[in-house]
Amino acid sequence: MTLLQIMPESAPETVVLRTEDIDVISAELAGVGVRIERWHTDARLPADADDHAVMEAYRRPVDRVIAEGGYRLVDIVRMVPDPADPAWPERARAAREKFLEEHFHDEDEVRFFAAGSGCFYLHVEGRVYATVCTAGDLLSVPRGTVHWFDMGSRPHFTAIRFFQEEDGWIGRFLPDSIAARFPGLDELMAPV
Ligand SMILES: [Fe+2]
Repeated sequence: MTLLQIMPESAPETVVLRTEDIDVISAELAGVGVRIERWHTDARLPADADDHAVMEAYRRPVDRVIAEGGYRLVDIVRMVPDPADPAWPERARAAREKFLEEHFHDEDEVRFFAAGSGCFYLHVEGRVYATVCTAGDLLSVPRGTVHWFDMGSRPHFTAIRFFQEEDGWIGRFLPDSIAARFPGLDELMAPV
């Protein structure tokens, strides 16, 4: 389930708003310039769907986003646990840590979750907007917006990524990240 939890930047334990209502989430994020959409498809994607099948299932909305945003490159990123791979836990840990601190990019960060989940933390206007995206969600983080991303202790997702430039999506990290003070994806999703 898509989830938004808003917290003051100076008080991570204070929940200003917590909602799973996509209309409320959409309105709150629009208020800080962030777009979220829910995409529906008739296609039932098998768990082992390859990149081509994923792309074809969402061809129309993908083409629309490309046309609207002038994106030139589209690819698919996967984090899928492999119990047979002894290196998986370390790979998952390293991948999680990569964008776990505050940063921004010189172009929009646009992700569509075809499967699984992940949490974007948007640090804007004195607040942190923790947005858990699940299958069917498109999130667009505008260029220059400070954020971080947590895929949780057990990463599992398939996402379509949209890029404007080949090298535009370099993370520019802030010297004094506040990310570690806030609940991670595991905590956000834990039953209360
Ligand atoms: Fe990022």
